Amino acid sequence: MKKGLVLAVLVSFVFLTLGLFVFHASRASAQSQATYVGIDKCKGCHPSETKDFESRKFSKAWSVLVMRGKDKDAECLKCHATGYGQPGGFVSDEVTPQLKYKQCEACHGPGSLHANNPGDAAVKAGMKSYVKDNDVCIKCHVCMKTHKTSDF
Ligand code: HEC
Ligand code: HEC
Ligand code: HEC
Ligand code: HEC
Repeated sequence: MKKGLVLAVLVSFVFLTLGLFVFHASRASAQSQATYVGIDKCKGCHPSETKDFESRKFSKAWSVLVMRGKDKDAECLKCHATGYGQPGGFVSDEVTPQLKYKQCEACHGPGSLHANNPGDAAVKAGMKSYVKDNDVCIKCHVCMKTHKTSDF
């Protein structure tokens, strides 16, 4: 009797873990097909998040890069542009002006699939979990020394 119970608990645990894993994987792979679309595409459907983002005084550090002649420097773009070096991400001001500076998708991941089909629950959940799944913050906020090693 007790053995049966233990077995049942074990079996359901295994299935639960497997289920979570598959859910997680499908969510991640759904979003990995997406490309970057830029903040103007998010604006209309997410006015309050956009307002909050744009109210941050640092949200448009791009002009600072331009002033320093660093807006074409790959070393800077990986943290100061959206999706630089990734499929469908920032290339240059001329080619992808909609993706300059660090925007929504720098934290939430590429949003084309979600923006075109916001009803897709798996993709939507991926937009939210991308932040934690990929530890995005520490990719850019490396440490207090981030800029002590840069020459600008
Ligand atoms: C056509 C409308 C539309 C567009 C465009 C759109 N979204 Fe959404 N988004 C939604 C809807 C609807 C929800 C669900 C809201 C809810 O559940 O409260 C959502 C939810 C989200 C969530 C939260 C998911 C969750 O589980 O809570 C994130 C993050 C998000 N969107 C980011 C973005 C980003 C970044 C962009 C631009 C690349 C974007 N969205 C473009 C409609 C849109
Ligand atoms: C590893 C990520 C990373 C790299 C690479 C990087 N930055 Fe930054 N930068 C940041 C972060 C994060 C901040 C926010 C403040 C902080 O933590 O220092 C910032 C802030 C800044 C600011 C201040 C913005 C403001 O509005 O006051 C300037 C200017 C700047 N960076 C220029 C550069 C230049 C030029 C380069 C290339 C030589 C560069 N950064 C490379 C992450 C990075
Ligand atoms: C610096 C990183 C960062 C940027 C930039 C950013 N977000 Fe978020 N966003 C987050 C984090 C972190 C959460 C909370 C995620 C969680 O709870 O798991 C979040 C949550 C959300 C949610 C869900 C809100 C809720 O109540 O659950 C939406 C929608 C959203 N962001 C949209 C946007 C849009 C649109 C932009 C651009 C205008 C944007 N975000 C820019 C980090 C960011
Ligand atoms: C793509 C690189 C990148 C990512 C990812 C990123 N940041 Fe930043 N963050 C920056 C840069 C660059 C600045 C300063 C200039 C700007 O905002 O463009 C900054 C500024 C900030 C600031 C100070 C200004 C403000 O907006 O209030 C805070 C706080 C911050 N980031 C927190 C976070 C957190 C928390 C996360 C993760 C959810 C995160 N950042 C993810 C690059 C990044």
